[in-house]
Amino acid sequence: MKSDMVVTDVSEINVAQRVRFDRLKFASKGGSFRYFLLRLILSIFVCSAASLPAGADQTASTPLAMTRAQAYAEAKALAAIGARLFRDPRLSGSRQIACTTCHDPTHAFAPANKLAVQLGGSDLHRPGLRAVPSLRYLQAVPQFSEHFFDSEDEADESVDNGPTGGLTWDGRVDSKAAQAEIPLLSDFEMGNRTADDVVDTATQAGYVTELAGILGGDIRRDRQAAFNGILAALQAYQEDPVIFFPYGSKYDAYLAGKAQLTDQEQRGLSAFTDEAKGNCASCHIAARARDGTAPQFTDYGLIAIGVPRNKAIPADADPAYFDLGLCGPLRTDFKTDPDYCGMFRTPSLRNVATRHVFFHNGVIHSLHDAVAFYATRDSDPGRWYPRRADGSVNKFDDLPAAYRANLNSDPPFDNVPPVRARLSATEIDDIVAFLGTLTDGYRPVP
Ligand code: HEC
Ligand code: HEC
Repeated sequence: MKSDMVVTDVSEINVAQRVRFDRLKFASKGGSFRYFLLRLILSIFVCSAASLPAGADQTASTPLAMTRAQAYAEAKALAAIGARLFRDPRLSGSRQIACTTCHDPTHAFAPANKLAVQLGGSDLHRPGLRAVPSLRYLQAVPQFSEHFFDSEDEADESVDNGPTGGLTWDGRVDSKAAQAEIPLLSDFEMGNRTADDVVDTATQAGYVTELAGILGGDIRRDRQAAFNGILAALQAYQEDPVIFFPYGSKYDAYLAGKAQLTDQEQRGLSAFTDEAKGNCASCHIAARARDGTAPQFTDYGLIAIGVPRNKAIPADADPAYFDLGLCGPLRTDFKTDPDYCGMFRTPSLRNVATRHVFFHNGVIHSLHDAVAFYATRDSDPGRWYPRRADGSVNKFDDLPAAYRANLNSDPPFDNVPPVRARLSATEIDDIVAFLGTLTDGYRPVP
């Protein structure tokens, strides 16, 4: 489903169809409630008419019809509560961490500090396992699928693009509501012991009464429904197009014919898209889709590129521990599938120049080095990987040898002798300059 229609103003929002609200199901069954809410929110904020099949609402057994205006008002009200929940440290076990602690709104919803992984948990000393991603431009991430066929894909819909989509670095959840449960209950993030604890806190803080005003009074008696309501509000907030996918970069202005790239940015764009050089755009899509949708700078594919191990992550001190992405250990459903070890979801590069750490383990600390890694992973591995006692380079030190066949070796990588860097030092600088045009908040020079 393509749900990334460019919406910059609420007045442009195309509420595709009437949404039916099954309050009975909502109160008693988390699953159908989530399904309903996902549809509600998507249809309010982002979906085009085509994305919701006619009759999709027939799953509701006792539907109460809502007008478009009512459905819209409900999603807005839910998002407003979500915005406060997102900032409220009372929702953590320590009462000191909010979503904003790691996802800072003034840093494209990534951390303000330079740590590879953030600290959390009840004592605020428990380190995480992965770098914190930006929460911008997640609106079109497709649900995870092991075999992804994309109608946008190079005119050939029969191509299996392999594992694609899902939220988090390994794609293990399919909605922002389901995702929000992870940090709330993680013992190294917000550190609540149970969902009931979260509901208790939210009840004391008045949120559950407010949510009941929108979602129906039953959630005051049904704790699972109340927890789902909290998750739904957090999701609704993150679907706000003005805040989360504003398309406000210089590159967007350039695509709209309202800004010019500098010569260096233009050269960077060329190297970024050139299949024999950066070839970056083969995964980090840079051109508008056929339907005119703005590029997201990712195809959402899960790919292994073999970034170095990060000694700054305490878990990595254990030589037996490997974060293998799609095949675990955080994700559990592909544990026995060695073909998927080392794969992580391709992130959007929008706002990437505002990041302090790069890749799933935050091992790289500058955008220049992140680009240089691509250029010289194969031609100069000693620059990135540690050496063994005998002086040889321990290339791909964060992926056990058994899984190295999974690594991507298409350009800009190169493992066929004579191995060479496909990007010159100047081209690396040019790409970095180009990536700077992907930062939201561009103001055209008058
Ligand atoms: C202690 C730091 C921390 C806190 C607090 C935190 N997160 Fe995150 N968040 C992360 C990390 C780390 C990841 C990547 C996790 C992974 O890949 O397993 C992440 C991933 C996400 C993602 C998926 C992003 C993507 O690219 O797929 C969403 C959505 C998200 N967080 C929302 C939230 C919400 C909502 C809250 C508050 C309820 C929250 N986070 C609180 C650290 C945090
Ligand atoms: C084969 C697909 C593919 C190609 C080609 C590719 N990337 Fe990536 N990119 C990824 C994946 C997958 C990740 C995440 C990998 C990880 O964290 O282990 C990533 C991560 C990144 C990051 C880190 C972003 C963040 O939020 O931490 C940057 C920067 C980046 N890529 C830039 C580039 C540039 C520049 C090029 C071209 C020189 C390029 N990529 C080519 C798939 C690709």
